[in-house]
Amino acid sequence: MLDIRVEKTTSPKPIPDKDNPLVFGTIFTDHMFVMDYEKGKGWYDPRIVPYAPISLEPSAMVFHYGQEMFEGLKAYKTEDGRTLLFRPDKNIERANNSNRRLCIPEINPEDFLQAIKAVVKMDEAWIPTKEGTSLYIRPFVIATDPFLGVRPSDTYKFMIILSPVGAYYPEGLNPVKIWIEDEYVRAVKGGIGEAKTGGNYVASLASQVKAHDEGYSQVLWLDGVHRKYIEEVGAMNIFFKINGTVVTPKLNGSILPGVTRNSCIALCREWGLPVEERQISVDEILEAAKSGTMEEVWGTGTAAVISPVGALRFEDEVMQIQDGGIGPVSHKLYDTVTGIQTGKIDDFMDWTVEV
Ligand code: COI
Repeated sequence: MLDIRVEKTTSPKPIPDKDNPLVFGTIFTDHMFVMDYEKGKGWYDPRIVPYAPISLEPSAMVFHYGQEMFEGLKAYKTEDGRTLLFRPDKNIERANNSNRRLCIPEINPEDFLQAIKAVVKMDEAWIPTKEGTSLYIRPFVIATDPFLGVRPSDTYKFMIILSPVGAYYPEGLNPVKIWIEDEYVRAVKGGIGEAKTGGNYVASLASQVKAHDEGYSQVLWLDGVHRKYIEEVGAMNIFFKINGTVVTPKLNGSILPGVTRNSCIALCREWGLPVEERQISVDEILEAAKSGTMEEVWGTGTAAVISPVGALRFEDEVMQIQDGGIGPVSHKLYDTVTGIQTGKIDDFMDWTVEV
């Protein structure tokens, strides 16, 4: 159990009103959680302090070799005033998996949850309640040793910041267009693809810029070895409904194990839909789109929730999906996941945790 020291802000910021569009990741609340680590001492000095810039040595290892881990989860306000987290245990488990892969010291899961709850409770008034909004929670750890040699750092900072958000994509629940990348790859088996760390996201930027310039929201990655099998989209996992079966790439060591991905698989199975986690080749996707058996495509992620895909482009071919609308399974998943998250429907999967 952490003994969290609290220093409240003396200059609270105005909380965004109902008409603020809450563009993803642009507004931050009044407080943040911070805890430090030193080799031999462990994690120490847990505190909630006013949200403010931090001071680091220019030689801090995170700036040079990217030793860092981050997570993303959300808090919601229910109509009866409760604050709910969605499956925080899954994010905490994944954070420690990332930490192990990146040689960052693990954080006790109970302390991690206590820290999330404490900082969310502190800035509870910032949780937006309009449809499609939530309080995005961003925990992260950075390596802080002032050292230019390559080795794991001996000191770290664990922080949690909070951001009231609306939809991740400007499209909202309207379908996004996705470009299947055939030039670069995001990750390879044995690399860091299944860890949540900045390196995987910076690797995606050149392709994302190229796709944006052509009017596409994101890229869909192919595997780094055969350059043939579907992996994931930059900020989401991907699902297809082909001929009545829900299909998603099997976790293979280079795909991020998404919490929303896991939740969608569980819900589809609960509803009796056949779900296959397996290798899916880009040829199979092209074939299904051409033959008319591709019924739906959607992405899943904490930030993106459920995001229908209306068009896929591979090389010079553009495949239109579901007449550019949202399909029935993606819609039902969206309603059910957000319904559970916001307490509007019964949490029959036992996924929410009250703050
Ligand atoms: C999330 O869905 O929480 C993510 O971390 C994706 C992101 C890079 C915005």
